[in-house]
Amino acid sequence: MLDKKSVLERASNLLVGGVNSPVRAFYKPTPLVAVGGEGPYLVDLEHGKLLDHVLGYGPLILGHRHPAVLRAVKEVIEEGWLYGALTELEVRHAEKVLSHIYPGGLIRFVNSGTEATMLAIRLARGYTGRNKIVKFEGCYHGAHDQVLVKSGSAAGHLGIPTSKGIPQEVAKLTLVAQYNDPAKLEELFEHEGNEIAAVIVEPVLGNYGVVPPKKEFLTALRRLTRKHGSLLILDEVITGFRLSLGGAQQYFGIKADLVTLGKIIGGGFPVGAVAGEKEIMNLLTPTGSVFNAGTFNGHPVSMAAGYATIQVLESEGLTQASETGKALAEVIDDELSRKFDKYTVVRVESMVQFYIGVDNVESPTDVKQANKKIYLKIHEELLKEKVLIAPSQLEALFTSIVHGDREIELFKQAFPKALRRVV
Ligand SMILES: Cc1ncc(COP(=O)(O)O)c(C=O)c1O
Repeated sequence: MLDKKSVLERASNLLVGGVNSPVRAFYKPTPLVAVGGEGPYLVDLEHGKLLDHVLGYGPLILGHRHPAVLRAVKEVIEEGWLYGALTELEVRHAEKVLSHIYPGGLIRFVNSGTEATMLAIRLARGYTGRNKIVKFEGCYHGAHDQVLVKSGSAAGHLGIPTSKGIPQEVAKLTLVAQYNDPAKLEELFEHEGNEIAAVIVEPVLGNYGVVPPKKEFLTALRRLTRKHGSLLILDEVITGFRLSLGGAQQYFGIKADLVTLGKIIGGGFPVGAVAGEKEIMNLLTPTGSVFNAGTFNGHPVSMAAGYATIQVLESEGLTQASETGKALAEVIDDELSRKFDKYTVVRVESMVQFYIGVDNVESPTDVKQANKKIYLKIHEELLKEKVLIAPSQLEALFTSIVHGDREIELFKQAFPKALRRVV
């Protein structure tokens, strides 16, 4: 029988900070040690079954150990798991993903969202012959030099939104604009438009809490990039197959030049992808001269798991995840209204977050004003009630298509209990 204390002790002697990704160190009072999962529940060594609203930070839209995914993965593994050659699984998954996200386009599968955004930016630079990119303060596009500038997620939480180790020469090519502020973006384009290769953006900001986009912001993104000959890269690593099967493009009615994907399209296995216009995508190696390669690109297990996941979503839809998201937000709203004058609950389909001490959230600046200490205490107390929410307010609370009435009832019981111990 594993002992949590000894696992944590060994981890702290061997892994930097005792973990392999910083957010995993944020759980209070100690990191979770996961041993399994089933549907909407994660099993942790200390607490046993936890109602899971983290869901692997987004990929598990079908919950843990969905039978269709398990079956698909087992079938693939029986035959072998790495070939360094094309497989039909990649072709099948490409057809599936493109049919929803970019019909008529091309796709390149890589291994993480980080790789996807890195590649999309290289591609945009190769296509336009320009060097600068625009990102928005608080958006997180993975852990590489081009985008770890005024970043959200764990980097924001740790107070190092701009990572050390990025040369000034590189960082200055990343221009930072303000989310939901089209006027400032327009100004930036007026000054530097002819040097901007691309704008990269999270269509719903999901790494600085959850911040929905204003319609005029999305419209300005498309209008300004077109006007100035820059590409629009929608980073749909979270939103792809979550907001709708066609992602944020379909949900908001906006068309990107390139879309970056990850998380859900790997069904819980490592994956990333860039999809987009043929003319741009064909610049990639081997057809073109923008280099990309990867030993594990299009890995059979990730392709099979992602394909099975999308098949389930096609037959069952996303309604259940969104409805549970709605119910979750309502419970939180109801309970917070009894305790606080000023608070905000934000929901976009199955992405939810709440903020105490602010009555409107339209930008990372608003999120910064929220009382993060209370949030973290609520997280800690919820854990004692066997409910898991993200241990950082800069992450989203997710629901899956297997979260239902029972889970809402559990949350409804746990949340006020946790809250009572905090305020
Ligand atoms: C919007 C967005 N882009 C990119 C990434 C990076 O993806 P990965 O962690 O797979 O490298 C993330 C990860 O959370 C993300 O949320």
